[in-house]
Amino acid sequence: MKEKIAQAKLLLEALPYIKKYANQIFVIKYGGSAQINPDLKNRFAQDVILLHLVGIKPVIVHGGGKKINDLLDKLQINSEFVDGMRVTSEEVMEVVEMVLCGNINKEITNLLNMHGSKAIGITGKDGNFMTATPKDNGKYGLVGEINMIDNRVIENLLEEKFIPVIAPIASGNEINHPGFNINADLAASKIAASLGARKVIFLTDIVGVLDKDKNLLSTLTKEQIESYKADGTIHGGMIPKVDACLEAVNAGVEKAHIIDGRVEHSLLLEIFTSDGIGTVIRN
Ligand SMILES: Nc1ncnc2c1ncn2[C@@H]1O[C@H](COP(=O)(O)OP(=O)(O)OP(=O)(O)O)[C@@H](O)[C@H]1O
Ligand SMILES: [Mg+2]
Repeated sequence: MKEKIAQAKLLLEALPYIKKYANQIFVIKYGGSAQINPDLKNRFAQDVILLHLVGIKPVIVHGGGKKINDLLDKLQINSEFVDGMRVTSEEVMEVVEMVLCGNINKEITNLLNMHGSKAIGITGKDGNFMTATPKDNGKYGLVGEINMIDNRVIENLLEEKFIPVIAPIASGNEINHPGFNINADLAASKIAASLGARKVIFLTDIVGVLDKDKNLLSTLTKEQIESYKADGTIHGGMIPKVDACLEAVNAGVEKAHIIDGRVEHSLLLEIFTSDGIGTVIRN
């Protein structure tokens, strides 16, 4: 009986958040590093469906770094990372699109559908809803910077109660252009800003942003981000993630969260409990 009462109390703890977030858009970036085993993937799908059922509008943007590396290795195609971005030749772009759209996007979409939702997987090429130009004058090859998002495509899906699952590839907006590889973190923040999302949440493979002594930083300011980037405390894949957080909150998203996708139900813990987990960056 005691256990049952504790369960009821737990549900009640979520009530104020359910009220507060009804009808709000949450953009969730599902990192490749957090897509590690079938159990965790199922938990992720359950969490997203629960959010949807209580009236939140989840929009999923996914990464896929590890799987892209695996296929590039198999095909013996070299690729390197500069500033946390994958330098993308046409050959690499073909593999990026195959893995992100052909494989991971359909896997996540199918998983959500099998757990009871209606998810639809798309890329920026669908409805030409996300276009880009070369980032930093082509310094990273076909890595793009988003220059236009047509909200109508996502809004129509949300209106009809679909969960959009977005692969971070943008249209080059030209005939025969192979498209652009967009860092998934930056795609998530741009999409969150464009849709007027309440939150953007990054699920990754670490507890949050760590300081030099590996302690979790539960909050982060713009000044801290600049100094941790300058001294190398924040490096590699964490660079675009914190940049994406800043970009989102500067554009009016209330909070950006970086949380541990390896922890079961980390999404629910972050959203529906007063303590939360991970690192929060706010406006
Ligand atoms: N200060 C820091 N605190 C925490 N992690 C950091 C820090 N600096 C660098 N990192 C690295 O950033 C990594 C997370 O970024 P990464 O790009 O690898 O994952 P992801 O974005 O979740 O996945 P994907 O890029 O496949 O979508 C961590 O595993 C960690 O090694
Ligand atoms: Mg990354």
